[in-house]
Amino acid sequence: MTPKTFKIKSFGCQMNVYDGERISELLGEHGLAAAADGEDADLVVLNTCHIREKAAEKAYSDIGRLKREDGSKPLIALAGCVAQAEGAEAKTRSPMIDMVVGPQAYHRLPEMIAQASRGARPVDTDMPAISKFDALPKRRAAAPSAFLTVQEGCDKFCTYCVVPYTRGAEISRPWGDIVAEAQALVEGGAREIVLLGQNVNAWEHEGRGLADLIRAIAKIDGLERIRYTTSHPADMNDELIAAHGEVEKLMPYLHLPVQSGSDRILKSMNRSHSTESYLRTMEKMRAARSDIAISGDFIVGFPGETDEDFEATLRILDAVRYAAAYSFKYSARPGTPAAARDDQVPLEVMDQRLRRLHERIGENQLAFNRSTVGRDIQLLIERPGRRSGQMIGRSPWLQSVHVETGAAPGTMLDVTLTAAGPNSMTGALRQKDAA
Ligand code: SAH
Ligand code: SF4
Ligand code: F3S
Repeated sequence: MTPKTFKIKSFGCQMNVYDGERISELLGEHGLAAAADGEDADLVVLNTCHIREKAAEKAYSDIGRLKREDGSKPLIALAGCVAQAEGAEAKTRSPMIDMVVGPQAYHRLPEMIAQASRGARPVDTDMPAISKFDALPKRRAAAPSAFLTVQEGCDKFCTYCVVPYTRGAEISRPWGDIVAEAQALVEGGAREIVLLGQNVNAWEHEGRGLADLIRAIAKIDGLERIRYTTSHPADMNDELIAAHGEVEKLMPYLHLPVQSGSDRILKSMNRSHSTESYLRTMEKMRAARSDIAISGDFIVGFPGETDEDFEATLRILDAVRYAAAYSFKYSARPGTPAAARDDQVPLEVMDQRLRRLHERIGENQLAFNRSTVGRDIQLLIERPGRRSGQMIGRSPWLQSVHVETGAAPGTMLDVTLTAAGPNSMTGALRQKDAA
């Protein structure tokens, strides 16, 4: 049966969210309609993440739940990083899967759907040299804050990480394509663009780097804000740091994962930065833009991590004063070098360290949020809040801010931050100077 309606569920990083949007546009172009909320779809695309074991297992438990009460099921496409990592094997693991499509091949989905409708079970995990982006429809509608993937893949090979295997080698999209897509997103309603890449600050095209790209995009009329994520500490160059002091539309926020505060662990992670080089980058960053908010990622329980190593992680956390941070228990991933080590950290120890780290992160976040109370900011309204008459927007420092207003998503409002919580802020509309 040829499907008429579809549903896409994206997990994992923002690049998957972006891919999900593009898949949705592609299917729309081929005559399929998005199923309404709570309604059954003829086709379900699971856009999966392989980064940690839990994320990968979730893909399979979700597939199981797609069986309907009458025993029938929708067409199921396994997409994203689990699809790339497992390929045809996924079909053996779950007989319910009709298609397996990797992150660099999803422009071929319409063709695969046609094959699957005839009973075939196609698999496409090629990483073709020609870019999938060329085969996708033009951007039209966009959310107030829109994602734009500028760079794919990773050549860093951190010893714990699957991304270089699931997303392939680092590839930068061409300058002109990105600027055109940014323009289209703004025409479609975006006020903020978030440039995405697993190593976004390694973006490079014909001798130009991310700082040049940001400066070019900042010239687009109607675009108010630019962000970029995720950056690698080793690629944080002086031009990019300088841009933070000079480009007004570039928001004062930087996600720069450090992973650990122990140089011994960083070395065995193959991170190619030290705590010292990381802290030096922080200093330069704050010199260029004193109010910059820093966020980061941490892994606890990497093989061989001692109590001392972990204490060093707590120290760097406090030294940087993170505005936000994400912490993960190390998860041994098949095929990565760290997974083969015989000094894995026991689960109880990881749990205990994660709890302590969580607590300290919470304290850091609250301290940062409190330090912004009283500040006058511009708020980009994104969505309705839980209570009626309330909307949620983002501050320049990426805080979620609740505010009483009837303003529509996409509106920029003058707001004063009035109260801080650990995970969000309250703001009040500021009266424009009576003149
Ligand atoms: N390219 C980015 C993001 C990679 S994935 C970077 O280099 O920072 C997002 C985060 O997941 C990583 O920053 C890391 O903290 C975490 N992560 C990656 N592999 C992991 C693993 N095997 N176990 C636990 N956390 C992991
Ligand atoms: Fe993974 Fe390291 Fe590449 Fe980030 S830089 S995606 S953590 S290998
Ligand atoms: Fe997950 Fe793939 Fe992103 S493994 S974090 S969805 S690149």
